[in-house]
Amino acid sequence: MRRHAILAFAAVLAAGASAAPAESMTARSFAEREYLVFGQPTGSYYEAIVKHAGLQAIHADGAVTLRLAEKGRETKDDGASKTTVIRLKDEVYPFEVTRYVKSWNDCGAVETWVEIRHNEKGPVRLMRADSFAAQVPVKADRVGVLTLSGQGNCEAGLCETEVKSGQFAYYASCAGTRDAWESNPAMMVSFGDGVDEESGKVLGVALEWTGTSCKRVRRNFNGRRIDVFAGVDMTSGPYTLDPGVTFTTPKAVLVWSEKGRGEVSRQYHRWARRHLMPHGDVLHSVLLNSWEGSYFSFTEQTLLDMMDGVKEMGGEMFVLDDGWFGRGKFARDEVNKATAGLGDWCVNSAKLPRGLGFLADEAAKRGLKFGIWVEPEMANTSSWLVEAHPDWVLREKGRPLICGRGKTQVVLDFANPAVRDDLFRQLDTVYSGIPSLAFVKWDCNANIHNPGSAYIPADRQPNLWYDYTIGYYELLARLQSKRPQIMTQACASGGGHMDFGSLRYADEFWTSDRTDPYNRVFIQWGASQFYPASAMACHVTDSPNHQTKRKTPLKYRFDVAMTGRLGFELHPKNLKPEEVAFSKAAVADYKRIRPVVQRGDLYRLVSPYEKPLSALMYVSEAKDAAVLFALGLRIKGERAETLKLRGLDPEARYSVKEINRGARLHANLSESATGRELMERGIAVRLAGDYDSAVFEIVRADAPAAR
Ligand code: GLA
Repeated sequence: MRRHAILAFAAVLAAGASAAPAESMTARSFAEREYLVFGQPTGSYYEAIVKHAGLQAIHADGAVTLRLAEKGRETKDDGASKTTVIRLKDEVYPFEVTRYVKSWNDCGAVETWVEIRHNEKGPVRLMRADSFAAQVPVKADRVGVLTLSGQGNCEAGLCETEVKSGQFAYYASCAGTRDAWESNPAMMVSFGDGVDEESGKVLGVALEWTGTSCKRVRRNFNGRRIDVFAGVDMTSGPYTLDPGVTFTTPKAVLVWSEKGRGEVSRQYHRWARRHLMPHGDVLHSVLLNSWEGSYFSFTEQTLLDMMDGVKEMGGEMFVLDDGWFGRGKFARDEVNKATAGLGDWCVNSAKLPRGLGFLADEAAKRGLKFGIWVEPEMANTSSWLVEAHPDWVLREKGRPLICGRGKTQVVLDFANPAVRDDLFRQLDTVYSGIPSLAFVKWDCNANIHNPGSAYIPADRQPNLWYDYTIGYYELLARLQSKRPQIMTQACASGGGHMDFGSLRYADEFWTSDRTDPYNRVFIQWGASQFYPASAMACHVTDSPNHQTKRKTPLKYRFDVAMTGRLGFELHPKNLKPEEVAFSKAAVADYKRIRPVVQRGDLYRLVSPYEKPLSALMYVSEAKDAAVLFALGLRIKGERAETLKLRGLDPEARYSVKEINRGARLHANLSESATGRELMERGIAVRLAGDYDSAVFEIVRADAPAAR
């Protein structure tokens, strides 16, 4: 390496060391920080080259370092967004990196990603290829990281830590499919003491990625510098990249807030609705999903009865869940249940003789939209598909298959285009038999347990982890471009696909199979840190709850579900007449407040992690309408909590009304109050006993409400 080139690299990083500290940055300036690559000279006596890197490659000749120099940058402005393209090249090897930084004029989010390609004499092995890898000086004594961690039935638990001098906070998920569970691909890095919902400097880093992922925050020995990384996880093996092929990292989405975590969440919500989710701000329907109401045991009549029930309560869509497909000995019926049929996407005509088209027509006759459940990434070993194509199943040569659900569930090889083509053809045939199909719940009920692909050559098997996810997106995109009107729900045994990668193709995710409202208060609180309410599917289910056996009032189940996209998952015939009447009124209330919930700005007021209740509110963008939810957990006796509202116009006058009411009023409300009074004095809400809750509709009284 020539001396002047080394000095040039050193100068780049030395400039970094004296650059503005994290506390005075923006999302864009974070994204534009130099990308940390293994081997880059630093100019420091102690750390002569970067070793904690976002990009690390073994060249075709075995060399392990990269030394990138900028070869040019340009910025394109299309009126709505600004994209800077930065071209970097290795000084010695024909190895190139192109970085992208894209920001929008109408929201604070910034996307950044990297393309890697080379023209070496043979393949290069990528040991790491992060989307974002930046080093920044910090002034604050305290650096914190908040992310979400969980598993099936307890998704999105808040996971918070302080990163002290010399420490490395490392979060990875290696599931391959249901990765949002273990370590959600999103985090907030906070700077300074006392960072909370309303105050403090916070950097949000989230990946648009559904596969394995890795986030790291490293703090140097004296605490004055941090490295922040986010990208695909490659601990399961390097990615082998052939000459002339481009490896594109997932996009990382950064936001920056000087007003605490609440503002980070609001920025993510706005960006996702405006620039990510396929149907953007379209209001999501109140639907009934058949799963908990019938599981695998249904006939045509069961489904028609459910349609009648949801229609009566004011619902707008009926979704047929698992159990409608498969044929002959592999039919997904009451006998086989979850043990057979995945992979065979044709209607089980023994169960549904008049097919899905008939059901969709029946839904339409009742004024309901119609949707179905599918699980295309998976198969059962007991399926015609696997009988015909055993090599389409992910498995390691020479080892017995480890099967998931029903002891027969396996993952299909989505790295193989032939597999995706077959699934496309099968689903396309099903969809074309249902011209009015409005909604698809796309499920995924296993991780990659057998990480081997018959399609990927032996010397590059670890490529599977990345190629699988790219294959998943490719199939979703192909189906979507043919029928863009269909709304998709990303489900993975509950919230395993609660991520921005899925939300590029799906308008919502199934938040959790745990439908108990008590647990949902926590799960939804976690999900709301990054993901918008319109994307969060929340269903009113039976009491006692099927998973926990907990008994809760119907009002509580509604109030908790109304904080997201409300739906039902029960058989309406099991409801008493008074429960049907309550549900009808609650759905009508929800439809009225729905634009505020689904498109409004979220303010989290009281954390269920800190008190025996959760309080949150949504405010319309024009600040002319708001909804306040107070969701009690387990309260001994009575508890009065003064909830100071947020986000209102201090000068405007608002009327406040309790809605979704039972007999008891939860607050003494005056006729009307100014935004300032509501924010400074608050509303004293009284909750009593276990699972009590209240909802308040707040409407600007001095101007006509137009949401
Ligand atoms: C998963 C989903 C459920 C339901 C079942 C059907 O568990 O999370 O909502 O669709 O599969 O088998």
